[in-house]
Amino acid sequence: MPVITTIEDLRRIYKRRAPKMFYDYAESGSWTEQTFRENSSDFDQIRLRQRIAVDMTNRTTKSQMIGQDVAMPVALAPVGLTGMQCADGEIKAARAAAKFGVPFTLSTMSICSIEDVAENTDKPFWFQVYTLKDDDFMRRLIDRAKAANCSALVITVDLQILGQRHKDLKNGLSAPPKLTVGSIADMMTKVHWGLGMLGTKRRFFGNIVGHAKGVSDPSSLSSWTAEAFDHSLDWARIAELRKMWDGKVILKGILDVEDARMAANVGADAIIVSNHGGRQLDGALSSIRMLEQIIEAVGDKIEVHLDSGIRSGQDVLKALAMGAKGTYIGRAFVYGLGAMGEAGVTKALEVIHKELDVTMALCGKRDVKDLNRDVLLVPKGFSGDWS
Ligand code: FNR
Repeated sequence: MPVITTIEDLRRIYKRRAPKMFYDYAESGSWTEQTFRENSSDFDQIRLRQRIAVDMTNRTTKSQMIGQDVAMPVALAPVGLTGMQCADGEIKAARAAAKFGVPFTLSTMSICSIEDVAENTDKPFWFQVYTLKDDDFMRRLIDRAKAANCSALVITVDLQILGQRHKDLKNGLSAPPKLTVGSIADMMTKVHWGLGMLGTKRRFFGNIVGHAKGVSDPSSLSSWTAEAFDHSLDWARIAELRKMWDGKVILKGILDVEDARMAANVGADAIIVSNHGGRQLDGALSSIRMLEQIIEAVGDKIEVHLDSGIRSGQDVLKALAMGAKGTYIGRAFVYGLGAMGEAGVTKALEVIHKELDVTMALCGKRDVKDLNRDVLLVPKGFSGDWS
């Protein structure tokens, strides 16, 4: 096993180990992938201010997200089909997150069901819901999350319809994978993955199969989203959904100042500035570019988090220093999971934690909560002279 020091190391191993269909599903954005690329490359434009002769002892990355203690303000984002990247993937990722002391968010589109993850982990996790047409199913989903003791509800608001990712159509993405000459030939080269899958029963969309009605092909993400998602979603419905959950609610997928203001008014506890990792509206600006203006507009009214493009602890630090109270990683943990299962997710968290801690120290800060705009060198016009 090579020495792993970066998230990129994990991505390379993951690429070798996971079937192409699932690697491509994770490692792609919509259409030209401009937003997917810029989510990460825009982080690189921000530089850091080196400070010296500052006491660096007793550093801490401990903080809080929506009032919950976290070992560092980095949660695992909801990622559909995680249990196809590696057998029992959601359970493994949830366990790694719990041991590390960061939140795990289970997607509606997970392979392991809410109940299954709850039974096989010992710390409460967050549950993400998509906004669905079937009110009855939606209510049952939320009740199931309550019964499983989930400690926050994340409502994803940027996916009424699915952005087109070319590779998924070309690969015929489904869970479990449909058996074609091409998919069988590919899976035969992924021995470790295949043995894991043979050893588990968790191969279907666990929250949906057997629970939702009227879905023509429950193995297909595209037909499920086309048929079940609420294309008519509006703010009144978001306010209604918010009321269905007594605890903390996070609205995920805000990228615009006006929308952030609306979100602050529906009584959510936090928003996630996100473009779904560049998987929805291609051509949208990166999350990190939009962050500062959104914080200026609503940062005093609601907790602002960020995802999309984070591949290192330095990226995390940049988002925090710009004012985000929390961040999420999607692909960065999937790379770890696909490379090495639970140990790989732990590795991804360790890599990010170390980078965050050392960068913080070299910027002259000892407490992650003290990070502010002072440690950053941001090019003029970064937030955009767009009109
Ligand atoms: C996602 N994302 C996502 N979001 C969500 O609310 N529900 C979901 O089921 C999924 N599924 C999903 C699958 C895959 C493969 C990816 C890569 C992403 C979006 C996710 O929560 C998060 O917003 C992005 O992953 C953040 O970008 P990075 O960290 O992957 O660059």
